Amino acid sequence: MLKTTLTEAAKAGAAEILRFFNKTFTISNKEGVNNLVTEADHAAEKAIISVIKSAYPDHHILSEEAGDLAKDSEYKWIIDPIDGTVNFAHGIPLNCVSIGIEKNGEIVMAAVYNPHINEFYFAEKGKGATLNDKPIRVSTQDKTINACLVTGFPYTYINSPNGPLEIFERFVRKGVPVRRLGSAAIDLCWVAAGRFDGFYEHKLEAWDSAAGYLIVEEAGGKVTDHGGNKFSVYQHKVLATNGRIHDEMVDIINNKKEL
Ligand code: IPD
Ligand code: CA
Ligand code: CA
Repeated sequence: MLKTTLTEAAKAGAAEILRFFNKTFTISNKEGVNNLVTEADHAAEKAIISVIKSAYPDHHILSEEAGDLAKDSEYKWIIDPIDGTVNFAHGIPLNCVSIGIEKNGEIVMAAVYNPHINEFYFAEKGKGATLNDKPIRVSTQDKTINACLVTGFPYTYINSPNGPLEIFERFVRKGVPVRRLGSAAIDLCWVAAGRFDGFYEHKLEAWDSAAGYLIVEEAGGKVTDHGGNKFSVYQHKVLATNGRIHDEMVDIINNKKEL
């Protein structure tokens, strides 16, 4: 039942994404330069929330644009109606719906759907992760120097030691490919699918990471903060890897080891 509603909600949001993609839509700015929200974000969010509310009117919902629709429930749906809005606004088909379901503080089920290439990622705690119903596993790469990585940059610059550009430079100077797709949820799913060996980012919100976090873990990967500590979707610094390069990535990110 939960899975059916989750799937329906993700597909309803995705139908709105496709309805507006490469068409005319209104765009407004949020905090930070180029932090956009479009008519499609609101339409997708409305469609997603309507599916959830008709099945589970008493569940708590946290959604990027609508905010915290608090209810006293053990279930909380954490929604990003379009992850990769800048891509969406530019007609780049790397954007998706991302929904994680938290039960008593733990993410138990997740879906990420990129309708442009019809990739539906799903995970249930303890039951593995799938892409279009086929099981997925993280890669087996065990050396960061041979890894293919992905990252993202926040809308506002972070001026701190081991900031996004500093770490990016560290990898690039050694010739390690670091991609930048523009959708954290897709980045995480592509780690889960073994396309990337690792992903890190400095300033994610719960709706960016909730679904992808479970999908990576259920595909056999590891997700922590940048210090290698237990991950919570409510903290901003995320490191997700195939597990094998995790400790090395932590040391490189914290400048404790040279590549
Ligand atoms: C953004 C994307 C991007 C990441 C940003 C997020 P949005 O989400 O996930 O890849 O670098 O930090 O805010 O704004 O497209 O939903
Ligand atoms: Ca997002
Ligand atoms: Ca978004």
